[in-house]
Amino acid sequence: RDKVSIGLLGLGVVGSGVIKLIENHQEKLVHQLGCEVSVKSVLVRSLDKTRNVEVDRTFLTTNPDDIINDPEIDVIVEVMGGIEETYQYILNAFANKKHVVTANKDLVALYGTNLEAAARKNKCDFYYEASVAGGIPILRGIADGLSSDRIQKVMGIVNGTTNYILTKMSNEGFSYLDALKEAQELGFAEADPTADVEGLDAARKMAILGRLAFSTDVALEDVEVTGIKSLELEDLQYGDKFGYAMKLIGYAQSKDHQIEVSVQPTLLSKEHPLADVKNEYNAVYVYGEAVGETMFYGPGAGSLPTATAVVSDLVTVIKNMRLGVSGTHSLEARFKKELRSADQ
Ligand code: HSE
Repeated sequence: RDKVSIGLLGLGVVGSGVIKLIENHQEKLVHQLGCEVSVKSVLVRSLDKTRNVEVDRTFLTTNPDDIINDPEIDVIVEVMGGIEETYQYILNAFANKKHVVTANKDLVALYGTNLEAAARKNKCDFYYEASVAGGIPILRGIADGLSSDRIQKVMGIVNGTTNYILTKMSNEGFSYLDALKEAQELGFAEADPTADVEGLDAARKMAILGRLAFSTDVALEDVEVTGIKSLELEDLQYGDKFGYAMKLIGYAQSKDHQIEVSVQPTLLSKEHPLADVKNEYNAVYVYGEAVGETMFYGPGAGSLPTATAVVSDLVTVIKNMRLGVSGTHSLEARFKKELRSADQ
């Protein structure tokens, strides 16, 4: 085939980045895939809204079935957000033998294991690199790059809003509310920043990372979470003076034959590689038995950085289509209840 057709669910910050990236990098995509990649239809809430990307109105629809049931569409890219309704759309897409790429961390944290199973049952691809740490290829880093190692510990700064707030408070003496307001103005806080500041957004991302790093299911309700709301400016400045940086750290580690996943404000020695991650940047530190210390760093949000993760997943899907295979980030055999970590 000389063209792969995409159906895009959602045209917000990430969706418009996906359209721009596919257009701007079309030549590279054609070169590496040997076919054109084209967005055929886009699901939007309103046809009349002003957008920050130009899309011909005839491509837009408000009816998801126009996309999910379109026999010409090979791959669905879900960047609309939401949980229950979106979950149904994706299950319907798999039932129609369409591959799915999503950036939806809330959905993958809650239903990732079920969606992986539904994808396998229908021999479809399911990839979600953009759901954790935006433009950083951390899911591939863990699931592919470190697949031969036994991971002992993952520590992540996976929420840009709280890292921005803590940096501004510690380094520039901002009040919590002023720093939060700036993070909202810069556009990386969630529409309702409660999920950011209470640590829930980070908890969802850590559940996904823990699942891949330790080849086991991690239930969101088992993640212990403490947010940053009760931190005082004095505590942060005091820590800073004595060589510590206050960070909201997500942990996933194996302890006493159990996987523990948690998110908590932590005073890190400034010697630790994560201590130097500033502002809205994300970083994930992975300690593997054989490899030792690794750290993955980059932008955790934003239109084009997040779109790179989505479109790279799309490239994987198209390569799989060409090879006649299907895949997901994790291998089925890895989803076992028993642990394979080094402390067994
Ligand atoms: N609100 C999120 C953050 C956006 O601040 O990191 C990216 O998931």
